[in-house]
Amino acid sequence: MAKIIALTNQKGGVGKTTSTVNLGACLAVAEKKTLIIDLDPQGNAGVALGLDKTTYADKNIYHALIGKIPIKEAIVKTELKNLDLCPSDNNLIGAEIELVSEMAREKKLKAALVDVLDDYDYILIDCQPTLGLLTINALNAADSYIVPMAAEFLPMEGLSQLLNTIKLIKASLNPDIYLEGILITMYDARNNLCKQVASEVTSHFEGSVFKTFIPRNVKLSECPSYGKPIILYDIESKGSAAYFSLAKEILLKDNVSNLDSSLISSFPEVTV
Ligand SMILES: Nc1ncnc2c1ncn2[C@@H]1O[C@H](COP(=O)(O)OP(=O)(O)OP(=O)(O)O)[C@@H](O)[C@H]1O
Ligand SMILES: [Mg+2]
Repeated sequence: MAKIIALTNQKGGVGKTTSTVNLGACLAVAEKKTLIIDLDPQGNAGVALGLDKTTYADKNIYHALIGKIPIKEAIVKTELKNLDLCPSDNNLIGAEIELVSEMAREKKLKAALVDVLDDYDYILIDCQPTLGLLTINALNAADSYIVPMAAEFLPMEGLSQLLNTIKLIKASLNPDIYLEGILITMYDARNNLCKQVASEVTSHFEGSVFKTFIPRNVKLSECPSYGKPIILYDIESKGSAAYFSLAKEILLKDNVSNLDSSLISSFPEVTV
């Protein structure tokens, strides 16, 4: 059965989509069948994976959420063998409003995913930068969540808001959800503010921050325009190494089998 991980932070531009796409690609290389759910009407994950929006205008996550089609019909293959995507586009904005009057509106994604749980090892959900109904659906469906956080400004206030929302969801809807980890992104070791932010976050959330820091890396910002995850765009880049390292951290924590470990042990480990 798939493990479902939501990547969420209501702050915009912190690396949620970049991390979803590139972690997904690295898990796929580790021979884990992986599905990315784009739950953001911006539809950035599909673009970053080189898909043409016009091909899924009538069949995407929106149609699955409102119950028009089974989610399987909305899933498309990507360039990587083990990586599939359930894309979105801007009609997903309407879902928040259309679902308001529906029963169990915060459980639509969870219900839709039941059909594909046995087809994947990992399902990653790319959330939009708000804490609305779509994000609540993601947190309700997820086993765990990752909070990407740009090491650029002191982010504590936004983070405590997010953790409060999750506390509410835990209390009312999904008592078993747990924090997979806080992921420091856009880290620049030459920048003192970055170092300060990373060390404050690490000490404040001791034990909950991934050892892997994602560096600020120009290749990571270039690859979406080429429609490729970083490992297909520049496998030698620091961005590639970092996302391999993150995948390894997660796989090792999930106790992958010995057979898998020999492949995964070849993945680099990037810590600071
Ligand atoms: N480690 C990195 N190094 C350099 N650029 C990065 C890095 N991570 C992300 N970016 C760039 O920063 C911008 C924001 O990243 P991304 O889209 O992943 O954030 P997001 O949290 O998904 O944003 P939104 O909240 O709008 O969905 C993008 O242009 C992306 O290419
Ligand atoms: Mg995004």
